[in-house]
Amino acid sequence: MTIPALLSDQVAQAFRAILGDSLPEGFCPVVSASQDLRFGDYQCNAAMILAKQVKMNPRELAGKVVEALRASCSQAIPEIAGPGFINFRINAAYYAERMKSMLGDERLGVPLAAEPKSIVIDFSAPNVAKPMHIGHIRSTIIGDTLARLARFMGHTVITDNHIGDWGTQFGMILWGWKHLLNQENLAKDPIETLLSVYKEVNKLCKESPDLLVDCKAELVKLQGGDPENLSIWKRCVSLTQSGLEKIYEQLDIHFDYWLGESFYNDALEPLVNDLLNKGIARVSEGAVCVFSDGFHKPQQDPFLVNKDGEWQPVPAIIRKADGAFLYATTDLATLDYRIAHFNADSIWYVVGAPQDKHFKQIFDIERMRGVQGDFRHVAFGSILGHDRRPFKTRDGETVSLQDVIDEAIQRATRVIEEKSPDMPADEKARIARMVGVGAVKFAELSQNRLSDYIFDWDKMLALTGDTAPYLQNSYVRVKSIFRKLEEGEYTPAAASPELSEDAEIHLARLLARYAEIVPSTLDDCRPNLLAAYLYELARAFHSFYEACPVLKSSGDTRTTRLSLCDLTARVLKQGMGLLGIEMPDRM
Ligand code: ARG
Repeated sequence: MTIPALLSDQVAQAFRAILGDSLPEGFCPVVSASQDLRFGDYQCNAAMILAKQVKMNPRELAGKVVEALRASCSQAIPEIAGPGFINFRINAAYYAERMKSMLGDERLGVPLAAEPKSIVIDFSAPNVAKPMHIGHIRSTIIGDTLARLARFMGHTVITDNHIGDWGTQFGMILWGWKHLLNQENLAKDPIETLLSVYKEVNKLCKESPDLLVDCKAELVKLQGGDPENLSIWKRCVSLTQSGLEKIYEQLDIHFDYWLGESFYNDALEPLVNDLLNKGIARVSEGAVCVFSDGFHKPQQDPFLVNKDGEWQPVPAIIRKADGAFLYATTDLATLDYRIAHFNADSIWYVVGAPQDKHFKQIFDIERMRGVQGDFRHVAFGSILGHDRRPFKTRDGETVSLQDVIDEAIQRATRVIEEKSPDMPADEKARIARMVGVGAVKFAELSQNRLSDYIFDWDKMLALTGDTAPYLQNSYVRVKSIFRKLEEGEYTPAAASPELSEDAEIHLARLLARYAEIVPSTLDDCRPNLLAAYLYELARAFHSFYEACPVLKSSGDTRTTRLSLCDLTARVLKQGMGLLGIEMPDRM
């Protein structure tokens, strides 16, 4: 049990003893970490909330609770503060006890989820023959972290790469394939080649509108099942997939499924008919649309928009007047499939904020159909260049994920070369990959996902500040302590830590907090909570290491300090692992 959960139970018991039957049923006091350690380690505002309900003075109620807790709570000293807060100062001895149990626990104190769920995580999802751009980076990295966290918490996780493998771009691609394709380039770099074919045809179409008609005809043939076009399309998809696999491999990111948009083609027509039959959709100007059913207030209604003070309908179109199905239609079919085949309780979509309206409409149509679940749009902002405009290459192109990885590794190689010129070349290469990829991932994950951030190579690869290289370097430093020990000089199981110095207590406090941070990072789908915590932990470690000699100390003090180092290394490694970042042993 985490410390806040434990304190919450004790506070609840104290309330029950004081209020008896007037305690509202199921009342669960919230205990949270204090922002400011001067007020203790944890705090609880339940007395203030309850006082209103039971018509008591909040400070008086808090006072009674504190009195009851003084007798029952051995882990902390409770204090009353302000209008009725209860603050807790955790005893050093209790932190030592926590350390002891962490030392023998592979999960380092993190509890498993009380109710394991089946969670489908939909992330990355680039489009065939369109650039996998920097926006897909955010989805790929955040989605992977959520999958790791959810698995670690004991959920059943299904990762599904819902690639855009069926769309109007194929008209141009098919024409280009037949008239422009360079087979040699295709073999070398399929993703880039398909993309440049697409760009080329796009340009030609602008010059001669007749070509557009030809492309459209290719698309219609594909949709009609023409064997030649179908087989070209299949090759495009599979070439793209193998190109993507290479990128994901470098990132150590893997998918359980690759059910792209085309997988749902046959489900679209029956779905639209079903929605028509149920009266959820109706025909408007030839198209099949879903309109608001008036369930929400207009402000919250995803099918309404306010124009000049008036609410106007923005229906979700699920079949165009020409019979074509849309992105929304596919997403509805996809959701059905995931519930039916993966038994999904939860479906999380890691997709940029501009698709907010799309997902709100999808989830709301599910409500109209009576389909229930924890459906979340895990949105994120943009990545910007130094000019605060969308991040682009020098010649104004979107930056591809592969370019980012390549450059990150190159730059990391320079960092390693400077730090450890004598390292063997293959080790250098291995570590440069960990550092480079880690730097890109950490720069992403340490941001609040909803805000835009500036892509800054120098900052993300710096050995100081909240960067992967800093944390990796901290880990290496902790590990190096253990390399200086004789065999058998430290056995974690035998350690019984005792804490006395402030720096020791503070490090132990942060170590214990790991058990709270991991679950709440997943609850809020906010990897930056874990990233910020790991940075704080590394900093606390450095302060501790400056204030408290480890190898030069002796006896129990030495064992305690070694176990603080040991736990710091383990939390750093596991925590960064949950962010998908590897820790080198040397660098
Ligand atoms: N392919 C889409 C894009 O690049 C993202 C798909 C996200 N997933 C989904 N189920 N809609 O914008």
